[in-house]
Order: sequence, then C-alpha cells, then structure tokens
Amino acid sequence: MPIFLTPILDACRPQQIQRAGELIRQGGLVAFPTETVYGLGALGLNEVSVGKIFAAKDRPAHNPLILHVEHKNQAALLFNFDACADPVSARALFEKLSDAFWPGPLTMVCYKKDHIPDIVTAGSSKVAVRVPSHPVALALLQYVQAPVAAPSANASSRPSATTAAHVQHTLDGKLDAILDGGPCQHGLESTVIDISQNPPQLLRMGAISLETILNIEPKTTWRPIGLATHEATGSPGLVCKHYAPQIEKIELVESTKIQNFWLSQASILLRQSTADQLDQQAGQRLKSTVTITLPDDPILYAQKLYAALYDLEQSKTPWLVIEKIPAYDTQNLWLSILDRLARASSLDP
Ligand code: TXA
Ligand code: MG
Repeated sequence: MPIFLTPILDACRPQQIQRAGELIRQGGLVAFPTETVYGLGALGLNEVSVGKIFAAKDRPAHNPLILHVEHKNQAALLFNFDACADPVSARALFEKLSDAFWPGPLTMVCYKKDHIPDIVTAGSSKVAVRVPSHPVALALLQYVQAPVAAPSANASSRPSATTAAHVQHTLDGKLDAILDGGPCQHGLESTVIDISQNPPQLLRMGAISLETILNIEPKTTWRPIGLATHEATGSPGLVCKHYAPQIEKIELVESTKIQNFWLSQASILLRQSTADQLDQQAGQRLKSTVTITLPDDPILYAQKLYAALYDLEQSKTPWLVIEKIPAYDTQNLWLSILDRLARASSLDP
C-alpha cells in the first residue's frame, strides 16, 4: 500500500467540510468535489494563495482560473458589465443564463472588476465565474465566505480527477487536504461561455451540451472542436495537449476502423455496443490486452471516461487506441466528449 502525504477529509461530516473551509481561509489549498470534476481550491482574491494553485499543478501562467461563488449575486459583483460594448445585453445574458443553469456546470466569462488579481485571469481583462451545484462545494463556499479559485484538481495536462483517489494520484503532497465527497456526477468540466459580447461565444464544450445552450440562447456562436489554439478560441486553457493519461502512444480511431486493432497488442477504449459487435465479428481479444468498455449513453460514458483513462495509465500500457465517436452521433454530450478525446490524443477530431 502506498503511503499518502495529503490528509483526506470526509465530506459526509460537516466538521470536516468546515475544516476544509478553514484551511482555505488560512491561505491553503484544498481539493473539493463539484458536480463536474474535483476542483483545487484556494482564496480567489488572494494572489499568494492563487499562486500556490499554479505551483501545485505546474500550470502554465497563461491559463486563467475559474472563480467559484455560492450565489449569482456574488458572481455579479465580480463582473464589470459596464466595460462591455453593450452593457445592457451583457447583463440580460447574465440573468438569462444564470437563471437557466445556476447552480450548475456553466461558467460565464465577462470583463472583471479591478479587485480581481491579474494572476487569476492570467492577465486577461475578463474573468470566469461559476456557481456549482454540488452540496459539498456550496457548503464549503459558505464557510469560506469569499470567491474560491479552482481549476480541475489534477497535475497540468493530465485527465481531470473525478474521485479523491485520482486527486491523490497526481497531486499528493502538493496540497493541504482533499475533501472526499465520492465520485462526481457529470465527470466532464463545466461549459464555458463568454457573455461580454452579443451573441455570446461558447469557449469550451462541457457538461451542459451545446444543444441545451442553444435551446436557451440560440444565437450562441461556437467553433469546431479540438482544432482550437490559444488565440483562436479566447480560452487559453484549450491548448491541444490536455486531459491526457501518461501513455506513450494514444490514437483516436474511427469506429469502423477499430477492428484493425482488435487483435493487436493495443489497449482499446470503446463503447460497449462496438465491443459487442467486434466480439461477434472478429472474435475475442487476447487475454494479455486491456479492453475497457464504456456505456453507450453519453451521460454515463462521460461519468466514467476519466476514471477509465487513469485505469489505462495504471495498466502501464504503452499503446492506447480510443474509439472516435462517429460524426452522426455528435449531438448532445458526444460533442463535449469528442472534444476531450481529441485533446487526450492530441489529434484533430
Ligand atoms: O467544471 C469545471 O469547470 C471545473 C470545476 C472545478 O469547476 N474547473 C475546471 O477548471 O475545469 P480548469 O482550470 O481546468 O479549466 C478552466 C477553463 C480553461 O479552459 C480556461 O481557459 C477557461 O476555463 N477560462 C478561465 N478563465 C478564463 C478567462 N478569463 N477567459 C477565457 N477563458 C477562461
Ligand atoms: Mg483542467
């Protein structure tokens, strides 16, 4: 059994949530559960505390952080709507989207108020804010009584953590505590949208599907996934290599071509229905190979994806083939999932 350095706090016990809150108030770093993925939290308006987040994750300084608050009124205090070309429509978008999706997995980006340190926004004049819905995250925010900056609780470029054990896996010894609230509900990060302009611009596909966003705000603009570069998207976190397990070779392969790898030494990550089909057509895989199947339902697939990537990493496989979800399926969450798969494999989707 490995010996871990970072204490685990149990989110089922209110005193331990309070303890996590105290550690953050004292300037410490605490990982905590949200409905999307675990966050690595610190006092969001304190430069020194925020600096610790960048150091612990080895995160590039150009990648800004999301501020988490308990209520939309607190979010409104962080945004400077008057800096927008059309302040009235920016405010209206804020009201509409916060009513529709908060608390929940939507992050809004808009011009920042002066008191937000530049380190949080990586020098940008805009800040990202969200109100999470996880009861433990909300209880923690209530203890802290200040915005909490929190990127996903993983070492930079690795898959996001959806359990306390995954936080431990890449960050043990680099933070003050991990508040364990069990596995995260969505397993995909929040959807990020820039509301400083009209129409708003989707910056990151995420746990709220593009379809759902378009139902509420049909004019929202968005770019093809995966191809995004820092400049092109306006979201510096979307550099290509991201969400990647430590595996030498990772390929994203069309469903119709997975059969070429079925009897190879490659580890394969694919949907259950594709695996069943290949089992029938091409026969059983070698016992020595790793095959991980994920559910056909995109909501369940997303929940399990990062855990599967960590399992594959721990299997020490040198070669991973991931089934690329067929284009005709790229509705709902598949679009967000495909974005993550493309980045994990550093290939265009
Ligand atoms: O679900 C989530 O969003 C999780 C949980 C913990 O809340 N957090 C998360 O944070 O995924 P992180 O740091 O891994 O990703 C933040 C994303 C990046 O793509 C970053 O570029 C974008 O939000 N972002 C943050 N601040 C921004 C800003 N000022 N302008 C544009 N994009 C921003
Ligand atoms: Mg992240």
